[in-house]
Amino acid sequence: MHGIRICALLLGLVSATRGSTVRHDHSFQPDHILRVTAETYTEACSERYSVLVNGSSPGPELRLREGEVNWIRVYNDMPDANTTIHWHGLTAFTSPFSDGAPAASQWPIPPGHFFDYEVRPEAGSAGTYFYHSHVGFQAVTAKGSLIVDSRSPPPYHYDEERTVMISDYFSETDDEIESGLTSTNFTWSGETEAILVNGHSRPATNATGACKLAAISVEPRKSYRLRFIGATALSFISLAVESHDLQIIEADGHYTKPFATEFLQIGSGQRYSVLLTAKSEDELKKVNKRDFYIQITTLERPEVLTNFAVLHYESDTHSPDLTTVPSPPPLPVASTVQGWLDYELEPLVQDNHFPRLEEVTRRIIIDVHQNVSDRTIWLQNGYDWVQSYPKSPYLVDIYKNQLNLDATYHRAITRGNGFDNITRTFPAQIGEVLEIVWQNRGTVDNGGVDAHPFHAHGRHFYDIGGGDGLYNATANENHLKGTHPVQRDTSVLYRYRKETSQLVPSGWRAWRIRVTSAGVWMYHCHVLQHMEMGMQTVFTFGDREDILAQSGPVDGGYLTYGGSAYGNATSAPFVQHFKQ
Ligand code: C2O
Ligand code: CU
Repeated sequence: MHGIRICALLLGLVSATRGSTVRHDHSFQPDHILRVTAETYTEACSERYSVLVNGSSPGPELRLREGEVNWIRVYNDMPDANTTIHWHGLTAFTSPFSDGAPAASQWPIPPGHFFDYEVRPEAGSAGTYFYHSHVGFQAVTAKGSLIVDSRSPPPYHYDEERTVMISDYFSETDDEIESGLTSTNFTWSGETEAILVNGHSRPATNATGACKLAAISVEPRKSYRLRFIGATALSFISLAVESHDLQIIEADGHYTKPFATEFLQIGSGQRYSVLLTAKSEDELKKVNKRDFYIQITTLERPEVLTNFAVLHYESDTHSPDLTTVPSPPPLPVASTVQGWLDYELEPLVQDNHFPRLEEVTRRIIIDVHQNVSDRTIWLQNGYDWVQSYPKSPYLVDIYKNQLNLDATYHRAITRGNGFDNITRTFPAQIGEVLEIVWQNRGTVDNGGVDAHPFHAHGRHFYDIGGGDGLYNATANENHLKGTHPVQRDTSVLYRYRKETSQLVPSGWRAWRIRVTSAGVWMYHCHVLQHMEMGMQTVFTFGDREDILAQSGPVDGGYLTYGGSAYGNATSAPFVQHFKQ
C-alpha cells in the first residue's frame, strides 16, 4: 500500500503540469462534507431502508459560487455498496474525475472510502441544480439541492427564495427494485406511492403515521424566487399553486425571458425558477385564508397520483394544517400538455450562440424502444447500456491508453451511424456540431410507448424542440424560424400515445450541441428504472490528446478501484488539484 502511494505521488509530481498533487491529510479542510449512509428512514408515513446524505433525504442544500473551486468530500459510509455523487447540470470538464458517473468517468467510491470532488461552477452558470448518487437506484433518496450563486446581482429582482425539491417514494428497497428490473423474471418497481416535497408528503390513502405535508412559508407582499427541482426517480409531474400565477425566469441553470404560466410540467432532472408575488394582507382577508395548496399530479403513468404541499402565509396567530389532505383536489387534475414550452421559451441573453443548421456537421439519430424477450430492456440503436457493462470506466481506459478513440470514431462514422457497438459509445471530435435526435418507437411486443426525460452530462445542449411521429429535419428547421432555442441539460421526449405498433415512430426530441469539452459524458433517460433497464448512452468528446491537453497528466491513484486518490480511515488520499 505504502509503495503504491509513493509511486502515485511521484507520478503526480513528475508529470503534472497543471494540477499538482496534494496529500489531503487532516490539515486539509474540504469546503463541504457529504456522508452517504444506508439506514432505515421514514418518509411519507412509511419506513424504508434508504441511502441518505448526512442522515436525511434530501441531504443538505449546497451553495456554491460561480467561478470558485469547491472541494466536496464524499464519504461512503455504507458497508456493502459503492457510491458516487454527480453534480447534475454542472459542467465538470476540467476536473476529469469529478463528474460522478461510475463506469464512465470515475471508479466509484468503495465502502469505507471517501473521495474529494473538485467542483468549480463555470462563470455564468448561476442557477438551480442538484446533486445525487449515480449508482443503481440510490438517487431515489440520495440527493440534495445545489444552488450556484452569482458574483453579481441576479437579473430579476426578488426579496427571498425557496427551494422546492420534488421526489418519489417507493416502498421496495433499492436492491429489490434493481434486482426486479434486471432479472429474467422481470418485476416492475411498482408506481410511485407518494410525491415528496423537500422530503415531506402525506399520502391521501393509507397514511397512518405523523407525516405531514411540506410547508413553503412566505410573507405577504414579498416576492419570491421558487426553485423547483425535479428530483423524482420516475415521475413526470404537473404542478400548480392554488390562486397564484407563476413566471418562469430560469430553466436548468439558464435565465430565460419571463414566461407567465399557471402550471409547471417537470420531468426527472429538470429545474425551473419561477417568480411568485405573495398576496397582500388585504387580499388574504378577502379570500379568508392563509394557506394555499400546491397540487402535484403524475403524468403519463398507468396510475394517476395527486399529492400536495402548502404555500403558507406566516402569521403569529395561525399555523398551517399539514395533516389534512384535501379531497377532492382543489384544482382540476392536470393532464399532459405535449411539447410544453417548446419553441416558446427564450433565453434572457440576446445571443446564446445557438448553432444554426449551416453549422451542424453531423446528425445522429438515436432510436429508442423497449424489447421484451428473456429480459425487459431499453435499447438505443439496438443496444442497452448499464453500469456493469464496461469492465473499467472509459475515462480511466483513455488515460491508460487502453481505449483507442480514433478507432471508435472511425468505426462509428463508417458503419454505425455515429455509434460504435464494440465500445457502446458515441464518439465525437472537438469542433463538431452535433444534431442529436431521440426517436421514440413502439415496444417490441405490444407497441407500448413511454415518455423519457433525456439528460446530458457535460456541456448543455440547445433544445430544438420535439414532435409526434418521425423526425423531419426540414419541417423542424421551418418550425425553428424566428424562435430562440434555450440551452438545457434535460428535456422530455413525449410519447403522444400509450401504444402504437412495434417499432413505429411515436415522437422525437432534438438537440444541438457544440462539441467543445473533451471528456466522457453520459446522455441518458433520467428515469432511474429505465437507466437500470439499459436506457443510457456514453458520448466521448475529443481524442486522447484533447483530453490530456485539457487536464494534463493524471496520477495513477485515480486509475484503479480504491486507488490512492481515494482515502479511508487509515490513509489520506493523494489528490490532484486540476483547477488551481
Ligand atoms: Cu442527474 Cu446522469 O444524472
Ligand atoms: Cu426513460
